[in-house]
Amino acid sequence: MGVEICVEGLTKSFGHQVIWQDVSLTLPAGEVSVMLGPSGTGKSVFLKTLVGLLKPDRGSVTVAGRDITKLREHDLYEVRKLFGVLFQDGALFGSMNLYDNIAFPLREHTRKSESEIRRIVLEKMDMVGLLGAEAKLPGEISGGMRKRAGLARALVLDPEIILFDEPDSGLDPVRVAYLNQLIVDLNAQIDATFLIVTHDIASARQVPDNIGLLFRRELVMFGPREQLLTSDEPVVRQFLNGRMQGPIGMAEEKDAAQVEQELAQIREPTRTPGSRPLTPRLLPGPGITRPPRWEAIATREAELQRKEVTGA
Ligand SMILES: Nc1ncnc2c1ncn2[C@@H]1O[C@H](COP(=O)(O)OP(=O)(O)O)[C@@H](O)[C@H]1O
Ligand SMILES: [Mg+2]
Repeated sequence: MGVEICVEGLTKSFGHQVIWQDVSLTLPAGEVSVMLGPSGTGKSVFLKTLVGLLKPDRGSVTVAGRDITKLREHDLYEVRKLFGVLFQDGALFGSMNLYDNIAFPLREHTRKSESEIRRIVLEKMDMVGLLGAEAKLPGEISGGMRKRAGLARALVLDPEIILFDEPDSGLDPVRVAYLNQLIVDLNAQIDATFLIVTHDIASARQVPDNIGLLFRRELVMFGPREQLLTSDEPVVRQFLNGRMQGPIGMAEEKDAAQVEQELAQIREPTRTPGSRPLTPRLLPGPGITRPPRWEAIATREAELQRKEVTGA
């Protein structure tokens, strides 16, 4: 069913450099959340803090009822088994074929027999569409296939939570579309809690239940997808529309006067009906049962869309 992750007052710095501070959010069990933010805002650091690879300065991360920031190494090791992580580059071993790469966590962390391992590896390879590529080396396949292999490896221990670090980076738009569909399908099938870090706006619009935005060392906003997509908050508007005008600049920050001037230029003080259409959600593919929460979400989104179009 997936587990909830509750983050409260989380702050992380390296030396004197504060990466982000006072981050609080709840990743609801079984839902898909996306964390957006410009490069260098600490998205990868956030994921590493969630799995306990990095220790925060302050705050708590409660996973399945336990604050992982307070756990000793042995207990942390147990909690970490709840997580599957897809690192940015897939993090595959270059000298191992895909089969052995995907089998690795099972051989390392379980006492399963090779025949049992074989059953699991082939099942996960099938789920991500890699059946038949067992003998390939990571260097012999496309970036998209490497991501899927990394995903299959993240799945073998049947995680309750899956963290994706920029799964779409380095992929062409068609491969990104396939990967997004795979993520939505997987979530419907295995029901784990997903957190995807990305700066791909198109993916962020279509895939998740919830969206968060990290900017200037703060979590600007975190909430249901439709709330962010229709938000009036300038940073959220700028990021989700991929515009140059606004608080986010090339060098991360602009001075306040410039931001004021640019925001005045955009001139959208009054929202006109239909001006912020809600991008349709990506649905699970044919033959895949939708999770129960989808009905409530569809009703909520239809209502919001009606208001947006009629201006009511
Ligand atoms: N282990 C580390 N030690 C010191 N600084 C780090 C470490 N890991 C990341 N940083 C710094 O934290 C900031 C955020 O990095 P990162 O999380 O990789 O950003 P993002 O993933 O959003 O692009 C960067 O300035 C980076 O240099
Ligand atoms: Mg990163």
